[in-house]
Amino acid sequence: MNSITIQPAASVRGEIAVPGDKSISHRSIMLGAIANGVTTVRGFLRGEDNMSTMHAFRAMGVDINDDGETIRITGRGLHGLQEPGDVLDCGNSGTTIRLITGLLSGQSFFSVVTGDQYLRKRPMKRVVEPLSRMGARIAGRNGGTLAPLAITGGGLKGIDYHSPVSSAQIKSSLMLAGLYAEGETTVTEPSLSRDHSERMFRYFGASLKVNPNGVTVRGGVELTAQDVTVPGDISSAAFFLVAALITPNSELLIKNVGVNPSRTGVIDILKAMGGDIQLIDERDVSGEPVADLLVRSSRLKGIAISGSVVPRAIDEFPAICIAAARAEGVTTVRDAKELRVKETDRITAMAVNLGKVGITVTECEDGMDITGSDRLLGGTVDSSGDHRIAMSMSVAALVATGPITVTDIGCVATSFPTFFPLLEKVAAK
Ligand code: S3P
Repeated sequence: MNSITIQPAASVRGEIAVPGDKSISHRSIMLGAIANGVTTVRGFLRGEDNMSTMHAFRAMGVDINDDGETIRITGRGLHGLQEPGDVLDCGNSGTTIRLITGLLSGQSFFSVVTGDQYLRKRPMKRVVEPLSRMGARIAGRNGGTLAPLAITGGGLKGIDYHSPVSSAQIKSSLMLAGLYAEGETTVTEPSLSRDHSERMFRYFGASLKVNPNGVTVRGGVELTAQDVTVPGDISSAAFFLVAALITPNSELLIKNVGVNPSRTGVIDILKAMGGDIQLIDERDVSGEPVADLLVRSSRLKGIAISGSVVPRAIDEFPAICIAAARAEGVTTVRDAKELRVKETDRITAMAVNLGKVGITVTECEDGMDITGSDRLLGGTVDSSGDHRIAMSMSVAALVATGPITVTDIGCVATSFPTFFPLLEKVAAK
């Protein structure tokens, strides 16, 4: 189990670009695979999660070529996927398994999906139940609620589904199934989760209607291959935003970051805490808003976080916890129960790890209270096999009174293989 020791830093300065957006990279392979023609993808994230998606589609007969710069996917059309000869291993990737289960529900063949020890503990009923209502036959462990899942697809009918949680994975899974269903499939959610699927479906020519809290997809419409340029991942940029905000004498320019409003909750939250973050040169790339982010050291204050901003910042809470740990006063997080079913239980993992470095965190069922301090101690913390826990505790080390050792850091490769070299580049001793 490998570990890293991070030293406190004097500043975080320079100009960086973060790797491509994970959510958009997954979707580019999936839609490219079932479109007609050759889709090109630039800026693709070659993290382990996205490679799981790529391997799964190759296993279904899709020709995907990577020359190191551009990914070329020769689409097989809506009905051209082949029955995979073996189990599809989704690794650690919740997006791969949940989205692909929707897509496989529409196929007239048999398939089995599984993942690593963490993914096999994550809830799948949230997609299995509505997909079964559409007509898919899905069996799995624990009454069909845990992977491995065995899917016999085909013969779907559109449904009108109100999801009890705001989740882009549930929404996208049903949208992909909806492409194969008779009639229309509508998904609504309590408040908007990331809308990359809606944008990319439209970009590839799907028939869909979007309204304030839902989307309707019409089945049977063929997609057309496109050229996709993937922007930098705001979830990866978030670690560097927090690093520059909390470290004195810092000024960092993060180029080419996706700033889709359904993802910018982290910017809104950090600004409300007093963070100096500017969006520069806002532009549109392949149907997604993009900007450069300029961030400077700031005095942060604790705030209350709840409601519709939570799904807009869902992956950034580990990083936000580090900002809160350095803020003046208490930061409260509520309506964030979903954090308990991510790669690990992120409420408990952050409470335990921050506790180890001297920060008081009180957990509640759907969130936590973090009491900020200007004394964050050195020590040893563990990632719990979760990439975002590993990266956020590494950022905390920059302002600690002594070095912090983070154990089990291999998981960082799932989303951000170049994180540590990039941190090393901008953090001055
Ligand atoms: C994702 C959706 C989110 C997010 C995950 C990526 C996606 O999950 O946490 O990292 O690409 O659709 P939920 O839909 O479960 O909130």
